[in-house]
Amino acid sequence: MRKVTCGRRVRLFLWMMLLVSAVIPTGCRKAKKEGEGERVLIGMSQCNLAEPWRVQMNSDVADQAKKYREIEFKQKDAQNDVIVQQSQVREFLTQGIDLLIVSPKETVPMTRPVKEVYDKGIPVIVLDREIQGTRFTCFIGGDNVLIGREAGKYLASLLNGQGNVVELMGLMTSQPGVDRHEGFIQGLKEYAQERGTPADGIKIIFSADCQWLEENGRREMASALARFEKIDGVYAHNDPQAHGAYLAAKGEGRGREKTIKFIGIDALPHEGVMYVKQGVLTATLEYPTGGKQAIDIGMKILRGEEVPKWITLGTRLFTKENVDKGGLEIPAKGPKRADLKPDKPRPSKKLGKEA
Ligand code: FRU
Repeated sequence: MRKVTCGRRVRLFLWMMLLVSAVIPTGCRKAKKEGEGERVLIGMSQCNLAEPWRVQMNSDVADQAKKYREIEFKQKDAQNDVIVQQSQVREFLTQGIDLLIVSPKETVPMTRPVKEVYDKGIPVIVLDREIQGTRFTCFIGGDNVLIGREAGKYLASLLNGQGNVVELMGLMTSQPGVDRHEGFIQGLKEYAQERGTPADGIKIIFSADCQWLEENGRREMASALARFEKIDGVYAHNDPQAHGAYLAAKGEGRGREKTIKFIGIDALPHEGVMYVKQGVLTATLEYPTGGKQAIDIGMKILRGEEVPKWITLGTRLFTKENVDKGGLEIPAKGPKRADLKPDKPRPSKKLGKEA
């Protein structure tokens, strides 16, 4: 056997080092194909996937991500548990993501984990439910005050400014619930002022936090029906709750589901819009998921472009009269937080074009 000299050993060692360094970067991330830009890992944390609207949001994001060849996309479902969501966001940090998309369950508990990611220099897009402060790159969401206001004005007009209303609220520790309530009160007021009807013509006789869930909407509506003989309208902060309320009225067996006006929010084609077509709901207002925008804006951020800090999306009102024509468009009135300046653009990744 030949003796391995010291010089040969050094050469062997150097060759091995070269081999290892060539393997390491491609070991963590898929290698880029010919003609592609750098690969980027986008992580998304969804607060829960038990509701149709969230399933829609996830597929909107995933479908748009497929349009960019360089995106590697990972989704996590926090199953409506804020502690789980906090740790999932932190886990993404250790998995080396280039961008985080998060749709938080609640405002306050998700503020800190999002800040931790952002403070490490990783851009964060917050979807739908807000967090506190400004430690995120971009917020994208519908205008919940506008949606609530339109619901209020529309319900008041159906009732000619007079009647008893049940309000089935969403989770009131999340901003959409707060905004949808405030907007509704504004809408009722505006209607009364514009039409000269009594300011207290529409009375909210019963309200409950139904945490966005259909079964809670059904249960609370059953209590309202048991307590009040005269109910003219139901304003539910989402379509599942509105549907639950309708089922409670139907289940009561007195035919009140035919006289009460039910208004919901979300307007998914296979949920709220379908209910309007079936005559189950009187109206629903679209709550856009922002899924497509999240990916497009995310790619702009990674390319080093400046993006607005706050993007507010418009809505559509669907009623029996307009549902077959695609509803009535109600544009956003501008970003809710127009005071926020965009972040300084980040160093650009060399990304290819949309596939
Ligand atoms: C789904 C949902 C939607 C609602 C949105 C508000 O979790 O409850 O129905 O519009 O969240 O954040």
